Amino acid sequence: MNALFADEAFDRRPRVIAPGAVWLPGFLDETAQTWLLRQFEVWRSGPVPAHSTIIAGHPMSVKTIGLGWHWRPGRYEREASDVNREHVLPFPSWMTRLGQKAIASAAEVLTQDEPAADPAAWGFNAADYSPDVALVNFYDENAKMGMHQDKDESDPAPVVSLSLGDTCLFRFGNTTNRNRPYEDIRLASGDAFVFGGPARFAYHGVRGIVADTAPAYARLAHLGGGRINITMRTTGQ
Ligand code: SIN
Ligand code: MN
Repeated sequence: MNALFADEAFDRRPRVIAPGAVWLPGFLDETAQTWLLRQFEVWRSGPVPAHSTIIAGHPMSVKTIGLGWHWRPGRYEREASDVNREHVLPFPSWMTRLGQKAIASAAEVLTQDEPAADPAAWGFNAADYSPDVALVNFYDENAKMGMHQDKDESDPAPVVSLSLGDTCLFRFGNTTNRNRPYEDIRLASGDAFVFGGPARFAYHGVRGIVADTAPAYARLAHLGGGRINITMRTTGQ
């Protein structure tokens, strides 16, 4: 790929994207990424296959696996009633610890970079962070996700998002509409993105995948390339 557009050409220091939203480039090292990719193979052969959720009659281009809960637009359930009625895999306890680590790192960045931040009041308390669902999304090189809010959770705890495989063009916007102001960033393999507090219900989406950008150890060769995103949330159920 053209070196001008390689990830190295962009500023990849941890930073605040909007009050309550923090990008943590390189949060996962190679070992952690490789291990998560192995877990993905376990999840893929679990009781509920990766499936395209139907929204307003249209299948999403991403394929999703739920851990802890199965997500359908507007609700969380234990059995995948729109797929095969099987019970989903549990939310792994190690993932809670990983989420807590991301929350702690994000709280530090907020404290340093955002004078008006109140990380504790915004739920950036690592010890208390206890997500109960992870949505694991697979994007092939043509998949996208339109601007939306994550609002099917009744608990406003922050969302922790982890990226693996190819880089994506991620757009993080505002809480009122899908339009500007927003910021476009490139989420690469190993990056974390955390949004909570005043950013918890901000619109966000994935404009596209940049094919063949994954580091060799995170290439999803058996799937024809692509990206995996894991978002941890707290359903409040
Ligand atoms: C999501 O918004 O649920 C997924 C975001 C991403 O793939 O980075
Ligand atoms: Mn989302």
